[in-house]
Amino acid sequence: MTCLVNILVALVLLAAVFYFIVRYSMKSEIKAAMERDPAASRMYEVIFTYAGIHALFFYKIANRLKKMSVPFFPRFLSQVARGFTGIEIHPGAKIGKGLFIDHGMGVVIGETAVVGDNVTLFQGVTLGGTGKETGKRHPTIGDNVVVGAGAKVLGNITIGNNVNIGANAVVIRTVEDDSTVVGVPGRVAKKLGKRIPGGINLDHTSLPDPLQQAIEKLQHEIDHIEHELGEYHKGKHKDK
Ligand SMILES: CC(C)(COP(=O)(O)OP(=O)(O)OC[C@H]1O[C@@H](n2cnc3c(N)ncnc32)[C@H](O)[C@@H]1OP(=O)(O)O)[C@@H](O)C(=O)NCCC(=O)NCCS
Repeated sequence: MTCLVNILVALVLLAAVFYFIVRYSMKSEIKAAMERDPAASRMYEVIFTYAGIHALFFYKIANRLKKMSVPFFPRFLSQVARGFTGIEIHPGAKIGKGLFIDHGMGVVIGETAVVGDNVTLFQGVTLGGTGKETGKRHPTIGDNVVVGAGAKVLGNITIGNNVNIGANAVVIRTVEDDSTVVGVPGRVAKKLGKRIPGGINLDHTSLPDPLQQAIEKLQHEIDHIEHELGEYHKGKHKDK
């Protein structure tokens, strides 16, 4: 019984220490979660139950150790944090104030990624490389950017300030400030709050749309086959 009480006291003390360290070292992240998540009602809930807060807490320690050139341990810590949050943040990434990672599972932030202030990432977001580059190979994300669930932002590209990236978009080209990008590959659907006429502004990012091209090619082939069949039937009628 005494043993159980001792364990409980130790756990409560540990929880209290964790609470105060996180509360005072992660003020901007906690504020971001409270402001941007309608479900976040109490600070202690955010501190104890938000995976994004835990991942960022460990990232801050790992990042500091990496800056002190400590070998191995920063990556190890980042992998431990990944194990129980599902969020992998490389210790070398540069992250601004007020990042909110909502839900978190499946988020990956690469080594040379740069994240501005007041950014929101939902579950399944990758700020990754394309697999072909070396050096700076991950994206630079501006301030006040929202990256929707499952979106992938790949390569050494820049996402401007106040950009919304739609859920499941795959963004592989630089995006200007104040834009909304959706789809695969990512296309600017809105700029400065105004819908882009025609829905897609290909000039803006110079992106070809492979899906649309494939559909157009198929339609062309169907038209051609229908025309040939029509000609064939006309010929048959004439013969009769
Ligand atoms: C993109 C997003 C941020 C909205 O930004 P917005 O600037 O308000 O843009 P709008 O809603 O006006 O949409 C602009 C256009 O993009 C389309 N669009 C919006 N989101 C899209 C998406 N994820 N995929 C494809 N198209 C999308 C809209 O239908 C609209 O098209 P239209 O002009 O032809 O009607 C939002 O739709 C989104 O995807 N948010 C992610 C939220 C999320 O991940 N939640 C997870 C919670 S667990």
